[in-house]
Amino acid sequence: MIRLGVNVDHVATVRQARRAKEPDPVAAAVLATLGGADGITIHLREDRRHIQDRDVYVMRETVTTRLNLEMATYEEILLIALKVKPDEATLVPEKRQELTTEGGLDVVANESAVRPAIDRLKAAGIHVSLFIDPTDTQVAASAKFGADAIEFQTASYSEAIGAVAVERELEKLRTATAQAVALELHVHMGHGLNYWNVQPIVRIPGVEELNIGHSIVSRAVLVGMERAVREMKQAMTEHYPNPKRG
Ligand code: PXP
Repeated sequence: MIRLGVNVDHVATVRQARRAKEPDPVAAAVLATLGGADGITIHLREDRRHIQDRDVYVMRETVTTRLNLEMATYEEILLIALKVKPDEATLVPEKRQELTTEGGLDVVANESAVRPAIDRLKAAGIHVSLFIDPTDTQVAASAKFGADAIEFQTASYSEAIGAVAVERELEKLRTATAQAVALELHVHMGHGLNYWNVQPIVRIPGVEELNIGHSIVSRAVLVGMERAVREMKQAMTEHYPNPKRG
């Protein structure tokens, strides 16, 4: 059975839009777990645009499955990871201007930052995954640098238009997965996966885990909207108990 890691970053995006206390990604992580999530994934970005340090510490205490911390190789973030000790750290590229993680981490070009980060995280007992594009050079370097796992960036697949382009991207993912499995790397995938494009990915032999965020958080907002409005209408007409004030 392939594991589903639920990325709750965008619950924090909504919270940070108001610098408020709600919605709390910690609560979302608990509910995702009740829904069957096999793990919780969060990205502590250098600019703290969504997940905050407090979320990482509280989730370390409260996530009962596996906590996967996505992170760039900034020293400040590495020190937090070494202190928090998530079950897994996924090294990702990070640019301030990007809307989301664009492209995989070029582990070959960034060897001088990636290799020591892998060594330090592994020495602390943290499983290390590298978020890379599905190419033979990136897979070979990931194995050589001692990563435990790789996560293939699936954006090119999820953004491909037309059956031919989709099949071409799937073939790249299949080939790279076979290569990674042969090198004894665990294979994860993520980025842009949704309710309509997930099945062909699940069928690739060797895939062990998917990390999905935006599509799940988007659906959660919509499936919850009707009830939220109904409850507000109720609160306008009836006493709505406040746990702090009664
Ligand atoms: N995996 C990694 C490494 C990511 O950076 C992200 C985005 O934060 C995801 C998975 C989830 O992507 P999405 O939000 O598009 O499902």
